[in-house]
Amino acid sequence: MKVSEAIATRKTIRAFKPDPVARKAIEDILTLAARAPSGGNLQPWRVYALLGEARDELVRRVAEKRKTAPMGETPEYHIYPPDLTEPYKTRRARVGEMMYATMNIPREDRMARLSFFGRNWEFFGAPVGLIVTIDRQMQQGQWADLGMFLENVMLLAREHGLHTCPQEAWAVHHSTVREYLSVPQNEMIFCGMAIGYADDAAPVNGLVTERAGLDEFVTFRDRA
Ligand SMILES: Cc1cc2nc3c(=O)[nH]c(=O)nc-3n(C[C@H](O)[C@H](O)[C@H](O)COP(=O)(O)O)c2cc1C
Repeated sequence: MKVSEAIATRKTIRAFKPDPVARKAIEDILTLAARAPSGGNLQPWRVYALLGEARDELVRRVAEKRKTAPMGETPEYHIYPPDLTEPYKTRRARVGEMMYATMNIPREDRMARLSFFGRNWEFFGAPVGLIVTIDRQMQQGQWADLGMFLENVMLLAREHGLHTCPQEAWAVHHSTVREYLSVPQNEMIFCGMAIGYADDAAPVNGLVTERAGLDEFVTFRDRA
C-alpha cells in the first residue's frame, strides 16, 4: 500500500466488526509506528494495548462508573480550547451534524446522541483498544511528537486492513482507566484508540469529513 493510499483511506470508524485482531499485528504496528520522529528522540509515547478480556474489563468498569457519572469527569487537560473561536467552532459543529445525519439522529434527540456518544467507551465495538498516555513533564513539542506516532499507528493499521478511531473521549474517564491499568501519576491519559475491522454496513461509517482548501491554511510566497 502506498502512503498516499493509506492516508486517503484512513478515516475515523465508529462501528467495528467483532472479528478479533492478532496481537502480532498490533505489535508490528506499534513497533514500526515508533519509528516516528520526536524532538531529541525523546519518544514521549506510552501505550497500554488492551485485547480480549483486558479490553472487555475496562469497558465494563467504565459502564459501571457511568451509572453515577454518565459523561465522566473533568479531563486532566482541555480537550478543546475553553473558548473556541472561528473557524474552528463551526468546523467542530459541522462534523457533529454530519455524523448524526448519517444515522438520522436529529439535534433535538439528545438521548440518542448521548447514547451514540457513549459507544466511545465500548471502543465502538472494536476488539482492540489502546490507551495512550504522556508524561506530565512533556510540553507542546512532545505532544506534537505523540501525534506523529499516533498517525503512524493509524496509517499502518490500514496496511493490515484495519481501521481506527482515535478517542479523546477516554480522557474523561481518567480515574477509572488509571486505577484499572495502574497508570502512574506522572502519566496523563491523553486518548484512547479503537482498532479493528470496519463494519461497512454501518451508516455512521459512511461519513466523509470535509477539509479546508489550501487557500485557507497555506500562505505561499515565491517572491521577497
Ligand atoms: C486526538 C483525536 C481524538 C479524537 N477523539 C474522538 C473521540 O473521542 N470520539 C470520536 O468519535 N472521534 C474522535 N476523533 C475523531 C475526529 O472527530 C476525526 O478525526 C475528525 O472529525 C476528522 O474525521 P476523519 O478522521 O474521519 O478524517 C478524534 C480525533 C483525534 C485526532
